[in-house]
Amino acid sequence: MRLVGTSDASTTARTADGPAGPRVVVLGRLPGDAVERLRARHTVHYRDEDSTAPAEEVLRLVSGADALVVTLGHRVDAAVLDAAGPQLRIVANVAVGYDNVDVATCRERGVLVTNTPGVLTDATADLAFALVLMVTRRLAEAEREVRSGQTAGWGMFHLLGTSVQGKAIGILGPGAIGLATARRARAFGMDVLLSGRSAPDPADVRALQARVVPFEELLASSDVVSVHTPLTPATLHLVDASALARMKPAAYLVNTARGPVVDEAALVAALEAGTIAGAGLDVFEDEPRVHPGLRERDDVVLLPHIGSATIETRTAMADLAADNVLAVLAGDDALTPVG
Ligand code: GLV
Repeated sequence: MRLVGTSDASTTARTADGPAGPRVVVLGRLPGDAVERLRARHTVHYRDEDSTAPAEEVLRLVSGADALVVTLGHRVDAAVLDAAGPQLRIVANVAVGYDNVDVATCRERGVLVTNTPGVLTDATADLAFALVLMVTRRLAEAEREVRSGQTAGWGMFHLLGTSVQGKAIGILGPGAIGLATARRARAFGMDVLLSGRSAPDPADVRALQARVVPFEELLASSDVVSVHTPLTPATLHLVDASALARMKPAAYLVNTARGPVVDEAALVAALEAGTIAGAGLDVFEDEPRVHPGLRERDDVVLLPHIGSATIETRTAMADLAADNVLAVLAGDDALTPVG
């Protein structure tokens, strides 16, 4: 792996973007001083826009890059790596999920990939549990009612939801975010079931008084199923029609991981058939598109992929991505390599 060997950063020549030397391309706007810190050491091309660049623009921007800092929505595939050139050393994804990066092709070409684990665990778990409360207590529906001016106020039977206390949450993918969501659920009096590809640490299982169960049992026994698996070929449509059919009719599905883990067409069909009671989604199969049939439903809460969207968290993510670039371009090990 080409981790060592910087080009000559000691040159005093400057370009409009900063000192000469390795070229860093930042594909989207970052909070905090991550870009300034990169600029202090390297030539930086900063696309200072909070949007996803069209594919043709990405191909143009990455040309000659030694490091790419990639905000979510940007894909890094063979075409992008070709456009960047053989000098590319690192792709620093500003996200914990890295399904937008073709890691295998990066590896083949000796390009290191990094992500931002850890720093977004609490923010994302907060949002996952917020979605649990939103769907079970019908909060979005209630808020819409007040906002529309159509509310009659308090009513004994008005907007009745279901309590989470004493119910079971099934954590699909008990990694850091899944376990942090489970801790929040415990604090709300929920029982915890865990299921995933890799076994959680027994100390975590004990602390949560959780049970590790097979996928099918988690589906059948949970009152809320919360999805936290990364998107991989093995988890694509993991929650499909047959998985949804195993869930309790009174159960809710929450997804703060990646949209394609859930088959949205099957989800709409399950909601229409009453196979499950509702869903809270922060992620979608084809973002920002929302599958027909979801927007119209009151038993569905829809958020625009804001799991890690706090200023503290996003700043920490940008800092970690920048630190990975600075380390690798200095010939040091990356802080948070993937794979
Ligand atoms: C956000 O979705 C992330 O993966 O960080």
